[in-house]
Amino acid sequence: MSYQLATREPVAPAPDARAGDVGFETVVGHSRPFREAVEFARKVAQRRLTTVLIVGETGTGKGLFARGIHYAGPHADQPFVAVNCTAIPGSLLESELFGHERGAFTDARARKRGLIELAGSGTLFLDEISELPLALQPKLLRALEERRFRRVGGVDEIPVAARIVAATNVSLEAAVADGRFREDLFYRLNVLRLRIPPLRERGEDVITLARLFIEEFAGEQGLPIPELADDAIHLLLSHRWPGNVRELKNVVQRAVVSAEGGVLRAADLSIVPRERDRIQTPTPGYTIGIPPDGRALDQIEAEAIRITLEITGGNKSQAARILGISRPTILRKIRRYRIAAPSRRAPDAEEGGS
Ligand SMILES: Nc1ncnc2c1ncn2[C@@H]1O[C@H](COP(=O)(O)OP(=O)(O)OP(=O)(O)O)[C@@H](O)[C@H]1O
Ligand SMILES: [Mg+2]
Repeated sequence: MSYQLATREPVAPAPDARAGDVGFETVVGHSRPFREAVEFARKVAQRRLTTVLIVGETGTGKGLFARGIHYAGPHADQPFVAVNCTAIPGSLLESELFGHERGAFTDARARKRGLIELAGSGTLFLDEISELPLALQPKLLRALEERRFRRVGGVDEIPVAARIVAATNVSLEAAVADGRFREDLFYRLNVLRLRIPPLRERGEDVITLARLFIEEFAGEQGLPIPELADDAIHLLLSHRWPGNVRELKNVVQRAVVSAEGGVLRAADLSIVPRERDRIQTPTPGYTIGIPPDGRALDQIEAEAIRITLEITGGNKSQAARILGISRPTILRKIRRYRIAAPSRRAPDAEEGGS
């Protein structure tokens, strides 16, 4: 199918969705760069007619954010129409997007409304916008600037009521430099630019997402939910994830099937740890920032424990091992710094009673 038309999404809010999360309840991640992207997307969602350009590597969740912006906005009850610019042949795309009048071309036996009209005052999501044929680009630019367009073969000016959200996983700047994308359209789209960070910049989110997908797939297959072994955590954090969340999802799906004895180990993860794909830092996967005006060592320690607990899904023994301290020590520090349990807890066999 080349495009989808939906007025409602069949998604149930996550159990820990907070009020105000509407539209983004299925978007998972606690890392700072990711939360910043969600916050920005939420603000953008409120400003209804603004065009948004979502940029990010393949598999980072641009599609999820486009839906999130629609469903978090004031016109969530209007249609969300997604069209992938690569999925429809260039020759058909114009009449798909803008519609046509009867007799506009040989096969045009009846008037047809285009996707931009079907979106009503909802959202038209133009995915892989870099692939929009050059010949169509001026027409989209005019629709964005004047908020009017004509159907193919038509003379009537039809107002554009929908918000346009475009996404790309390739550099539009490079496409402009190559003459494949019009500069004027690029500037028009690039006003509100939402960048979705790649997974390797999202630290402990890798583990949070891995646990989420483990639960999902194990549930689907009727398998017990395996624990993540230390070596699996390390490998997940050190991989570069060129395919981002989509790649993680696939890797986890296979691993859940191959895990034995209730433990998912590094050997179950079909990740090829190619040297050039590994993050070149001694503590891969996350960073703790120190602002120029300094920061108390206690605060840094508390943040390190919080991040590690997020990574281990709340398993304190595992967190203590990763940090190279004893279990009583970590328990003491958790109390001292009043560190709350992370939002998604993994079962922790050793925790009983504490
Ligand atoms: N934060 C997230 N929480 C939960 N699932 C996610 C998250 N980000 C991405 N996913 C899932 O990962 C997969 C890839 O996401 P999506 O299709 O939105 O990526 P994309 O950026 O549009 O990729 P492409 O550029 O290749 O089209 C989807 O199955 C999506 O549901
Ligand atoms: Mg996509």
